[in-house]
Parts: sequence; structure tokens; C-alpha cells
Amino acid sequence: MAHILVTFHSQTGNTEKMARAVAAGVGQAQNARANLKKALETTAGDIRECDAVVFCSPEYFGYMSGAMKDLFDRTYEELKDEPRSVKKPYCVVIAAGNDGTGALRHIERICKGYRFKKVQNPIICKGPVTPDILAHCRELGETIAEGINAGIF
Ligand SMILES: Cc1cc2nc3c(=O)[nH]c(=O)nc-3n(C[C@H](O)[C@H](O)[C@H](O)COP(=O)(O)O)c2cc1C
Repeated sequence: MAHILVTFHSQTGNTEKMARAVAAGVGQAQNARANLKKALETTAGDIRECDAVVFCSPEYFGYMSGAMKDLFDRTYEELKDEPRSVKKPYCVVIAAGNDGTGALRHIERICKGYRFKKVQNPIICKGPVTPDILAHCRELGETIAEGINAGIF
């Protein structure tokens, strides 16, 4: 059973819609379940116990949200050298007004520090969350779950 953690922060709902679509995509895969959780409530244990993580953050001031940074701040020391966490597959979903590259760059940089393994290209939504973006998010969730079950990631 593929167990995918989808952790998100959202103030106005855009990132949350994308995170929910990723989780729905996980649910479309055979033998998979998503743990959809707010970043502020996500723990080192949630990361340790999952098979892959999708980090979903808005871009604020050219950076990830403070809540997503808080998750990294709280869990880095505990997880960075754990055999069960090193090389954990991950990918990133960003909601932005018109950019998103700053948030993405900084999340990927931190994930390198944990030695997580990027397994899918990021999704960046610039502006309103469209049905196309949500379809892409669902596809991402399904692909990650199926990749875990197939032993590809
Ligand atoms: C405080 C603040 C800072 C923001 N900074 C940026 C930014 O640097 N670059 C950008 O593209 N959008 C920026 N935005 C726009 C948000 O990224 C965008 O509205 C996003 O969809 C919000 O996601 P949310 O609804 O999940 O909070 C900012 C929004 C806020 C509230």
C-alpha cells in the first residue's frame, strides 16, 4: 500500500485546492492512500512513516510560506540522518500570483539537505487555480502512488 503524505499551507485556498487534488489523485491509484495534512500539524513522524511526500506551498515574498518553513525547521535535525527518511521520494506543488520560482528553489534546496529524492517535476500555478491545473495535480498524485507501488521511485 503506497502511503503518500500531502502537506500544505494555504491562506486563501489556492494551495489547498491543489493539495486536495493531489490527494484525490493518490486515491485514484490502486492500493494507495493519502495523508492530507496542514504543514503546521505535520510532524517528523508523518514524514518518516510515509513512502513519499508532496510539499504544497504558496509563494510569499519570493519564498515558501512561513508554515512550510516551520515544518522544515521542526523536523530537519530529527530526520536528516535517518535511514528511513534519507532518499524519501518527494515533489513540490506551488501556488503563486505570477512567479513561484523562489518558493520552489528554496524548498528544493532544503530537500537536498534532507537528501530527499525528487521524483517528479514540480507544478507551479501562476494566478487562479484552473481545472487544467487541478487535473495536473490529480495526475501527479496518481503517478507518485503508482510509482511507489511499482517500485520505480
Ligand atoms: C503575503 C503575500 C506575499 C506574496 N508574495 C508573492 C510572491 O512573492 N510571488 C508571487 O508570485 N505571488 C505572491 N503572492 C501571491 C500568492 O502566492 C498567491 O495568491 C497564491 O495563490 C496564494 O496561495 P494560498 O491561497 O494557498 O495562500 C503573495 C501573496 C501574499 C498574501
